[in-house]
Amino acid sequence: MNREQVVINEVGPRDGLQTQARTLTVEQRLQLIQALMAANLRHLEVGSFVSPKAVPQMANTDQLLARLPRDGEAEFSVLVPNIKGFELAAAAGASVVAVVVSATETMNQRNINMSLGETLDTARAIIGLGHERGVRVQAYLSVAFECPFEGRVPAEVIRDQADQLMGWGADELVIADTIGAADPAAVRGLMNTLVETHGAARLACHFHDTRAMGLANVFAAIESGVRRFDSSIGGLGGCPFAPGAKGNVATEDVVMMCEQMGLATGIDMPALLRAVDLVSELTGSAQGGRAHYWLSNNAA
Ligand code: COA
Ligand code: ZN
Repeated sequence: MNREQVVINEVGPRDGLQTQARTLTVEQRLQLIQALMAANLRHLEVGSFVSPKAVPQMANTDQLLARLPRDGEAEFSVLVPNIKGFELAAAAGASVVAVVVSATETMNQRNINMSLGETLDTARAIIGLGHERGVRVQAYLSVAFECPFEGRVPAEVIRDQADQLMGWGADELVIADTIGAADPAAVRGLMNTLVETHGAARLACHFHDTRAMGLANVFAAIESGVRRFDSSIGGLGGCPFAPGAKGNVATEDVVMMCEQMGLATGIDMPALLRAVDLVSELTGSAQGGRAHYWLSNNAA
């Protein structure tokens, strides 16, 4: 029997590394991506085209892209905050970009120095440019449950913004709980409505594990029909501009849960655990969700 598929988008090389005290070289970032590809990850967010003064860890993403395979085996995305970022990414050969709209006024100001209105206009323009140039655009709705500055974000606000981004033709809409404040009931409530309105094919979720509900939130979204998830190797991650944001839900934990529940991820777990060890070594701090310890000590 063919098992139902869950698609994992590995964001460790971007969301994970952008907050690390140690800035990795292009060579080390490449080494990590190769280890992740060896674990059969085929969707990876590899960097961002942002100001190197704002996020030095992501400088030289153009050099990294130039060294990644172009044979179509894997899909590499890069985050772009503005039109300049889109142009730089396109010039560097990016085929997928992630544009981030924060749901609240203050979060946009703190993250990219734009108002919410300007950010939405920018997202619309980037979706249009993507269509013209054959670049896939993933639209992120960040702080979709709670903003570190403005508090809880009403589900109606997210539904309206989601309608706009989908209406402009975003190839994918990613609902992001940037600071890890969502809970399974809130996730199910929001994702049920979004799946009903837009279908699950173009929807994805991005959860952080700040309050230990990351995996429960993934499960709630699965129950709502979502089959695409961002996660980060070793649970690495966070946003430098969102106080309190901790790591993403760990890829190895999501893979273990999905596989145990009978959903197929296509990921090679032993190779994934080796990538967790590598990222710990490269960042100089021990990383790991819960699966790593358990599987390392119990797997046959
Ligand atoms: N990539 C690289 N450099 C960029 C850029 C981009 N996408 N956009 C603007 N810049 C440069 C400008 O050329 C200018 O450079 P200069 O000082 O050498 O002349 C400088 O950044 C300031 O440009 P400005 O348009 O005034 O931007 P800003 O100061 O308002 O900053 C961002 C806006 C988006 C560039 C900046 O806030 C940023 O990079 N934030 C990072 C967001 C992020 O990664 N968040 C985490 C993930 S969601
Ligand atoms: Zn994130």
